[in-house]
Amino acid sequence: MRTSLLIIHGPNLNLLGNREPEIYGSTTLEQINEHIQRHAEKRGFQALCVQTNYEGKIVELLQEAGNHAAVILNPAAYTHTSVAIRDAIAAITTPVIEIHLSQISGREAFRQTSLTAPVCAGMLSGFGWQGYLLAIDAAVMLTA
Ligand code: DQA
Repeated sequence: MRTSLLIIHGPNLNLLGNREPEIYGSTTLEQINEHIQRHAEKRGFQALCVQTNYEGKIVELLQEAGNHAAVILNPAAYTHTSVAIRDAIAAITTPVIEIHLSQISGREAFRQTSLTAPVCAGMLSGFGWQGYLLAIDAAVMLTA
């Protein structure tokens, strides 16, 4: 049984903590990753956390995700624009769970459409950084 989870944080999420804290909170990405690691370990999984600002890098990470039990992906702004990331999710058999810190369906019109969510196993949005812990539980459930 595969016991690792790949967590992909997309563009600008490296700025968490300082970036629009009224929307995204004041917890840094490093702190979120610590919470993720600890929660995954409690569930018997290891979490590999990667952040990139590059669309093509996300495509490559997805293409190479076959050794992981599941992927937890926050495509950030690419959620609303990237056919390439959508196609990569659709092309792989590893389940992908989409996650957003903010509630995208209650924000600007351009954020209300996710090109990527329809090809994911499911999506969590609006629960802040704690949403990552819910996503881990969802991944554990999917892979049980
Ligand atoms: C986000 C929502 C996106 O619309 C935005 O571009 C982000 C972060 C979120 O986690 O709430 O960068 O994915």
